[in-house]
Amino acid sequence: MSTTIELMDGGARTSAGPAGGEIRCGDLVRIFATDGVEVQALQGLTLSVDPGEIVAVVGASGSGKSTLLTILSGLDTPTGGSAVVAGTDLLTMGHAERVRYQRSTVGFVWQQTSRNLLPYLTVSENVRLPLELANALPRRERRRRVEELLELLDVGHVAGRRPGEMSGGEQQRTAIAVAVANSPRVLLADEPTGELDEATSVEVLEALRGVNRETGVTTLIVTHDPTVSEHVARTIQIRDGRTSTETLRRTETDEHGQARHVSEEFAVLDRVGRLQLPQDFVHALDLRDRVRLALEADHVGVWPAAPGPAVESDPPAEPVETRTEEDR
Ligand SMILES: Nc1ncnc2c1ncn2[C@@H]1O[C@H](COP(=O)(O)OP(=O)(O)OP(=O)(O)O)[C@@H](O)[C@H]1O
Ligand SMILES: [Mg+2]
Repeated sequence: MSTTIELMDGGARTSAGPAGGEIRCGDLVRIFATDGVEVQALQGLTLSVDPGEIVAVVGASGSGKSTLLTILSGLDTPTGGSAVVAGTDLLTMGHAERVRYQRSTVGFVWQQTSRNLLPYLTVSENVRLPLELANALPRRERRRRVEELLELLDVGHVAGRRPGEMSGGEQQRTAIAVAVANSPRVLLADEPTGELDEATSVEVLEALRGVNRETGVTTLIVTHDPTVSEHVARTIQIRDGRTSTETLRRTETDEHGQARHVSEEFAVLDRVGRLQLPQDFVHALDLRDRVRLALEADHVGVWPAAPGPAVESDPPAEPVETRTEEDR
C-alpha cells in the first residue's frame, strides 16, 4: 500500500482539519512524572473527528492510546495543547462542568467489563441506572428507553441476568447500552474487545457501528487490534504519542457492479509541517539521523543523507517521494 501525505490546509477533512469537529485535539501533550522520571505519553497529538463519525485509533502498547481516551473522557487533564469535545474545553472546565460532561456529554466503554457494569444489578437495572442518575427523562419513559436500548444492542434475552451470568460479548454490548443511555454526543471505547475472542470482537465492533449509525453518536474506538480498520471508514495510527498515519476505507463499485473495499494510507502532517515516515520506508532505505529533502513542482523527495561530510551530489535514483493530494 502506498503512503501519501495528506496536506492539512485547503479545507480537506483531516486529523488536524478545520475547526468544528466534535472532537478536536491540537498539539496535545501529557507528561507523567513518577519518582523524578518524566514519561511523555502524548507528544503533540493532533486529531479531529467530525460529528457522527466513527473512528478507530490504533497503536502499539504504550503509544498513548489510553492516555488520550482518559483525557477525552474528562478523567485526566492534559499538560498542554488543546482539547475540545462537543464544545467543551477540557483544559479549562471547572468541577461542576466536568461532572456534567462525564454524566451526559460523553459515554465510555472500558476493556474490563467489571469497570462498565455493576455486578449485583441485572442488565435492565444497569442500563436504567444512568437514566436515574441524570434524571433527564420522566420516570414513565425510562422503562421504554431501557427496552429500546436492550433491543438496539440485542441483549433483550438477558434483561434479567447479572453480568456474571452472561458471555463477554453480551456484557460488552450491555456496556455500550449503558454508555449511550443518556444520548451522549460522544462515545469513547478503550479496548472494548481486549478480553474477547475474535468472533465476539467482530460482534462488539459491529454493535458499536450499529449504534453509531442508528443514533449518530460520534464514536472513537481505541485498540491495538489492527483488524478494527475493517469495521470503520477511518483509522488513525498513533506512534510515540503522536498521530502518524491514517487509513481511509471506502466502498467502490467496479465495472461489473461488484462492490469492493478500498483502503488507502496517508501520513499525517501537522500545522508546523512535521510528519512521521512509515517505519518500513525508514528501514527500506536505512534512513537515520538526517535526510535530504528536495522540493519539486508537485511533490517532496526524501533521500538518505550520504555518510560523512555533506557533499554536493545528485540524489540517488528511486527516492522515497511524498506526494500532494493533487498528485493522485
Ligand atoms: N499514570 C501514569 N503514570 C506514569 N506513566 C504513565 C501513566 N499512565 C501511562 N503512563 C505511561 O505513558 C505511556 C502511554 O501509556 P498508555 O496507557 O496511554 O498506552 P496505551 O497505548 O494505552 O498502551 P496499551 O496498548 O498497553 O494499553 C506509557 O509509557 C505508560 O507507561
Ligand atoms: Mg491502553
